[in-house]
Amino acid sequence: MNAKQVAAEKAVSFLDDGMTIGLGTGSTAYWAIEKIAEEMKKRKWRIRAIATSVRSEEHGRSLGIPIYSFADIGTIDVTIDGADEADEKLSLIKGGGGALLREKIVATNSNQLIIVADDSKMVKTLGKFPLPVEVVLFGWERTLEKLRLLGCSPTRRMKESGPYLTDNGNYIVDCAFGEIEDPEATHGRINAITGVVDNGLFINIARRLVVGFENGESRVISR
Ligand code: 5RP
Repeated sequence: MNAKQVAAEKAVSFLDDGMTIGLGTGSTAYWAIEKIAEEMKKRKWRIRAIATSVRSEEHGRSLGIPIYSFADIGTIDVTIDGADEADEKLSLIKGGGGALLREKIVATNSNQLIIVADDSKMVKTLGKFPLPVEVVLFGWERTLEKLRLLGCSPTRRMKESGPYLTDNGNYIVDCAFGEIEDPEATHGRINAITGVVDNGLFINIARRLVVGFENGESRVISR
């Protein structure tokens, strides 16, 4: 079985009719969006959704999920999103798909963030996955050098046609730290650099982590 799908479908079992739901971004959150649309039709759920990226917004809309903006919704009950790395304390690295800023805005405005991941995402210490940092275009070269001073190896994210741009029109700098011993301190140091918009460390935000396995089983870690 697809471990990502297993995790996503288990997470959707925590949702209910009438909820306002945050739609995450990435290949695991993809399965949650699919399942939400299926449940909506099967159980006649009346839900409202807000998306963490243009990609997820288009995916949700294509399946008939009603997508709203912050101007039109109140509290977000639950957001289901993926992660690039997660530890047992539910500290995360996110942003591999470039959506970290919208993901963090939606997550921190949700009553509950449920992270969905296959078991390969579980780590003892965060940092093997290069930490995505969203930076503004103006002066990005200097911002990158300041990130390097924090002890990482920073690279501006590229795609075939040129630099990768986020949905917010910013660059992503991927910062290879190897190991992040103190995620909270690292988060603060990075965001204190002028030119940085935000970084992909999510500390004390996720309330539940659903890990999926290829044998079809899942493990739920709650905080
Ligand atoms: C996008 C993200 C994703 O949630 C993260 O990259 C995990 O993606 P996937 O489920 O495809 O492995 O943070 O910005």
